[in-house]
Amino acid sequence: MTVEIDHTLEEIRRFRPSPEFAAQAVASEDLYDRAKADRLGFWADHARELLTWSKPFTRTLDWSNPPFAKWFEDGELNVAVNCLDRHVEAGNGDRVAFHWEGEPGDSKSYTYAQLTEEVKRAANVLESLGVGEGDRVAVYLPMIPEAVISMLAVARIGAIHSVVFGGFSSDSLASRIDDAEAKLVITADGGYRKGKVFPLKPTVDDAVTKSGGSVEHVLVVRRGENDIAWTDRDIWWHEARDAASPEHEAKAFGAEHPLFILYTSGTTGKPKGILHTSGGYLTQVAFTHKNVFDLHPETDVYWSTADVGWITGHSYVVYGPLANGATSVIYEGTPDTPHAGRWWEIIEKYKVSILYAAPTAIRSFMKQGRSIPQQFNLRSLRLLGSVGEPINPEAWIWYRHVIGGGSIPVVDTWWQTETGGIMISALPGVTDLKPGSAQTPIPGISVDILEENGTPVEGEGGGLLVVTEPWPSMLRGIWGDPERFKETYWEKFGDKYFAGDGARRDEDGDIWLLGRVDDVMNVSGHRLSTAEIESSLVAHPYTAEAAVVGASDETTGQAVVAFVILKESQAVLAADFTTTSEELRKHVATQIGAIARPRQVFIVPELPKTRSGKIMRRLLRDLAEGRQIGDTTTLADTSIMEVISSQVR
Ligand code: WT7
Repeated sequence: MTVEIDHTLEEIRRFRPSPEFAAQAVASEDLYDRAKADRLGFWADHARELLTWSKPFTRTLDWSNPPFAKWFEDGELNVAVNCLDRHVEAGNGDRVAFHWEGEPGDSKSYTYAQLTEEVKRAANVLESLGVGEGDRVAVYLPMIPEAVISMLAVARIGAIHSVVFGGFSSDSLASRIDDAEAKLVITADGGYRKGKVFPLKPTVDDAVTKSGGSVEHVLVVRRGENDIAWTDRDIWWHEARDAASPEHEAKAFGAEHPLFILYTSGTTGKPKGILHTSGGYLTQVAFTHKNVFDLHPETDVYWSTADVGWITGHSYVVYGPLANGATSVIYEGTPDTPHAGRWWEIIEKYKVSILYAAPTAIRSFMKQGRSIPQQFNLRSLRLLGSVGEPINPEAWIWYRHVIGGGSIPVVDTWWQTETGGIMISALPGVTDLKPGSAQTPIPGISVDILEENGTPVEGEGGGLLVVTEPWPSMLRGIWGDPERFKETYWEKFGDKYFAGDGARRDEDGDIWLLGRVDDVMNVSGHRLSTAEIESSLVAHPYTAEAAVVGASDETTGQAVVAFVILKESQAVLAADFTTTSEELRKHVATQIGAIARPRQVFIVPELPKTRSGKIMRRLLRDLAEGRQIGDTTTLADTSIMEVISSQVR
């Protein structure tokens, strides 16, 4: 172990950009100055520079009806044309848009010209199925090229995609289909995961049966070649694609035309359909993808390991990289299949130069040890990014040294499904890097830290993170629920966006993210709601009451820990707690999806409640994290924690 790694508990080092990196950097200090001098002018300039508008906009921001923002409203563009056709027209048709690597080792590369043709064909298929402007299309696919093609085809015809992560259950998929009233579902027979084919189509069949009847067709990509049932509404992707014309004329749509809905967990049981629109969204994701990742599109090979089912997959697998004409890598499977060095093998194979990954993955690689990545040539890497949760300084240093060879920039990027694009991050080549801190709002973004009562925290100190000015890629609302949009994000601090995260400003003015302050958990960078898991547990016939907490976990950041009271009528089962809690863990995985499966389910006789009946999750968290139980004086029954602890230990 090197001296550096021994000293990370009190990591105080700062890393200056190397002169070589700074000399070639895309970003410059000047961006901050320009944004400061004229924030709206800054965004307008970038919108014009980074995108191709069919009709130029004349108004930058309409904030006359907060919190409903309109950016570049009188402009028109086609998002897919911006990601595809224009690169071909500019002579870059032969540049690879992405190298796709299947989990079993099959692979395929698409140039911009080829991808454009595929998207045109798919757009024709969608139109032939009666999908048009404003219609919703659910996408439930593995990480295969058709996922990207589907999203862009939907965008091209002005329809709205709602990508649902392939790990979600049929119930979760059905509720998303219903909320968006999706007309079409695009899925696959199955995809590869951990060396096996996991079926997707049966889940879609189930979801469509359960749902309210909006779905007219299911378009099925053949990938897993697993046996599937077939109904009248089903169509094979490859048959429709082959029959479709490769020509498709794209229409331009207004800058505020909806682009997608993406569901994310909130503080209540019902996921929120976060709505993003076109011009502002594409401007900010293209800007950040270029400047935060120091993108040189002619030479870089960029890899974001996220699934398209999450916002990172939307903004930094699909829209940002393609808008910028980048060459990417897309990988279907898990990091450890067929061997623990799979990621490093892919980096070596494609000479990846920019890697964007989550701290949870980095921590699990750390656990396995450096000898695995050291078997591969990772010298092509010149920039590393992190996203999804705070990256602890120890993991930051390991990432930089073991993966990055010790001298390349690591950028920790803070943002959310709602923010659409990166909001807080260092700019490589410009900012001195500080392990563990997301550091500085990007140029054109204004954030602050407030006390609970709304007073700004002056100088050093902690509080609640807010965004103080509207930004181009901000969510435009919650699908079908404007009231919830206002309540969730804007009621607490008036016209400032409340992010739901705690944050601290240090003596240099750098921002450190401290985790969620609401009942939202972050497990492996995925957002889960305590309420959603609690209602799933309560839906099981055994359960009388349930409380869920996010307990800190060495690898996954947080882990789901549940405390369950069984119904009296089920007391006979209580003789075997192990089987019961195993059954409940499985139940949550089936109801919501495997990512929501609790790490532990404890069967307890009571839950700690205040006199007014509110569950004191803080005390359960103490227990789950193996800490001394905190102050119990406000409990209705102060002895209850002893009873619960004895049960748990
Ligand atoms: C929540 C948003 C952004 C794409 C992936 C997650 C946490 C995200 C960081 C970071 C500390 C982070 C926050 C945020 N988060 N990035 N760099 N440092 N925390 O998107 O599912 O919408 O979750 O993830 O708590 O609120 P999401």
